[in-house]
Amino acid sequence: MNLLEVEGLEKSFGGVTAISDLHFEVPPGLVYSVIGPNGAGKTTLFNMLSGIYKPDEGRVRFDDHDLNGLLPHQVAQLGVSRTFQNLQLFFNMSVLDNVMVGCHLRSHSGPLSGALRLPNVRREEELTEHWGHEALEFCGLDDLIGREASALPYGALKRLEIARALASRPRLLMMDEPAAGLNDTETVELRALIRRICDAGITVLLVEHNMGLVMQVSDRILVLDYGSRLAEGSPEQIRSDPKVIEAYLGGEVQYAV
Ligand SMILES: Nc1ncnc2c1ncn2[C@@H]1O[C@H](COP(=O)(O)OP(=O)(O)OP(=O)(O)O)[C@@H](O)[C@H]1O
Ligand SMILES: [Mg+2]
Repeated sequence: MNLLEVEGLEKSFGGVTAISDLHFEVPPGLVYSVIGPNGAGKTTLFNMLSGIYKPDEGRVRFDDHDLNGLLPHQVAQLGVSRTFQNLQLFFNMSVLDNVMVGCHLRSHSGPLSGALRLPNVRREEELTEHWGHEALEFCGLDDLIGREASALPYGALKRLEIARALASRPRLLMMDEPAAGLNDTETVELRALIRRICDAGITVLLVEHNMGLVMQVSDRILVLDYGSRLAEGSPEQIRSDPKVIEAYLGGEVQYAV
């Protein structure tokens, strides 16, 4: 059974069609990448999958739940989490507090029980702190736990964004250009981290322009062009697909990380 199923998805902004009749399926346990030129609709797709944008048409199913009409926190509670192309961190907060924000996305206590500090809230706080520590350790950030986010170098901030998304214990993690701005060493470390996330049982949906990373880390790849599906297949199939080479990869792509 597929973890994610997208059927006939459409989204336009005024006269601009960002996503057009898109369909694809993601089985569980894979690193599934979505690639395509700037403006191909990758972030728009993520915004629809995470409940930020409402599709004009089409259907999204996640683990047998219909995501259509759900708000972002409801999608998160089902186990879908994401990172953002532009870092969405609280720079004046500590590293730990930033990941705890991620944990609270799945918290079930309401504001009243929170204000009264009922026992279930205290238990939940302990649990979220535990999950936060675990996510930071997983991303190699445990040494920086008490630091203010603003004091972190860019590579660590990108990992903090991933740790925040992991702290909500997702089953599907969507990453929007995690390698953007990273140097070669950090990109190799990111590749290992993505594999470890997948090995931990979390399905990864990856949007990325770094073709070396995409070709090495992905199990399957979907190619978008002007919001439509151009091709889908294994890295080998995509690398040698004439349509993909003509529309996107061209002759200039470097595959080494
Ligand atoms: N909120 C919006 N309002 C108007 N147009 C938008 C909006 N969001 C996206 N678009 C348009 O939709 C198209 C797809 O944009 P999107 O950001 O999804 O592309 P992308 O594949 O993520 O590109 P990049 O690789 O540069 O991040 C573009 O033409 C963009 O200008
Ligand atoms: Mg984008």
